[in-house]
Amino acid sequence: MTLHCHKLGAGLPPILRPSTAELLARDTQRLAEWVARHGSPLNLIWPDELQENLAALRVVLTESDVAHAVYYGAKVNKSPGLIQAALRAGAGIDVSSLYELRDARQLGADGARLVATGPAKTAAFHSALVGCSALTSVDSPEELDDLVNCLPANGNVQPILLRLRPTGQAMSRFGMPADAIRHCLSHIAGDGRLRFDGLHFHVSGYRWESRVEALEEAAGLIREARALGFSPRLIDIGGGMPIQYVDQMAYQNHLKAQTPDDYRTGTVPASFYPYGGALSAADWLRQFLRAPMAKGCSIASYLADEGLVLGMEPGRALSDQAAISVFRVSRVKALDADAHVIFIEGSSFSACETWFASEFLVDPILVPVTPPSAAAKSIRGYLAGHSCLDEDVLCNRWLTFPVAPRAGDLLVYANTGGYQMDLLENEFHRHPMPSRLCVVQDAHGQPALVPDTIGET
Ligand SMILES: Cc1ncc(COP(=O)(O)O)c(C=O)c1O
Repeated sequence: MTLHCHKLGAGLPPILRPSTAELLARDTQRLAEWVARHGSPLNLIWPDELQENLAALRVVLTESDVAHAVYYGAKVNKSPGLIQAALRAGAGIDVSSLYELRDARQLGADGARLVATGPAKTAAFHSALVGCSALTSVDSPEELDDLVNCLPANGNVQPILLRLRPTGQAMSRFGMPADAIRHCLSHIAGDGRLRFDGLHFHVSGYRWESRVEALEEAAGLIREARALGFSPRLIDIGGGMPIQYVDQMAYQNHLKAQTPDDYRTGTVPASFYPYGGALSAADWLRQFLRAPMAKGCSIASYLADEGLVLGMEPGRALSDQAAISVFRVSRVKALDADAHVIFIEGSSFSACETWFASEFLVDPILVPVTPPSAAAKSIRGYLAGHSCLDEDVLCNRWLTFPVAPRAGDLLVYANTGGYQMDLLENEFHRHPMPSRLCVVQDAHGQPALVPDTIGET
């Protein structure tokens, strides 16, 4: 049995794909056993979902005749199983640290399958990238100098992208304006150890329109680079393709109905991820590719005419529906007649949104471990973690629980693979790190768990 916990009349039930819906609706005993065995919170991964997400993007790229290189943004969570799924499906990996690079290499990625986009690369990271000739996005002239210092005198030619800071992102510390790109090009022209493969940008926010504007700027620089004798082959548009966590209408209704009283803090957060956006990642990509550029052609035909590959680094969009996080309730405490705090085994580190002064606007699902009594009453409460800090709150929203949760019941947050699940996890109070396991089908077609680690089965 599962019960949705929400704001009365303006709920935000998560969109679930069949494998998760099935487990939550019909197999809650199994879920409870898994938590009993592996502890709370328990992060469950469905690697196959990543492959479905990738396939949906590829349909659009193929129907638009766009040569492409999709790199999974491995930063969105710590799951090697998802990196492996991306590699198995033929995608590349976007690595932002020496450690992400090491994982991807251990899982079989050669340099040709990698792009490194993080702006804060260390000398050790540069050396490792150079060691496998991985495509490296250079964030600044200063980074170019550092990278050059890592190049051996007689090594392979190092492929690089230059990261553009589009004019619409003037306040960003990432990437460089057009003049700095030109400065880097003149440097590259004089160093035979470097090869300019193209331009990269990553725009904050989730609008495809801002990527069209950035691509227009990149197109101008590609033209200039060609006039200088370079042969760029790729424009990488970064990540930011959206996920639909909840139904669009439900989301709009929720936003309209929200008031400060809905939050224990008495404040509605200033911004939210667009949890109930109008577009899937595939629709977003279709709109982007069809968008007209200033000279009249679509983005798709511009790329084809110029013989350019479209690079992209979706993180969140490829992890859509690929994970859930399961928390065990430890206690329910009454604060007053109509206000409760639901303590869970886990912390705000296990569900990151309150760290950004925002809120995960997706309702948790209550899974009672034994059927609630007919007399069980609904209660209102918020979710708090197991640390001694007042701010350790998973959800500042007052949620209406259709029946009062009891110790041992489970609360499930769906779709936590993108930046929610385990990015901030630590061992505060010496609680062990939460387990993360992949859900696969056993020989009888039943869901079974395998470790989500490198080199173990
Ligand atoms: C350079 C770069 N590429 C890709 C991504 C992934 O973005 P998303 O997960 O929104 O697709 C990020 C996220 O911050 C990024 O900084």
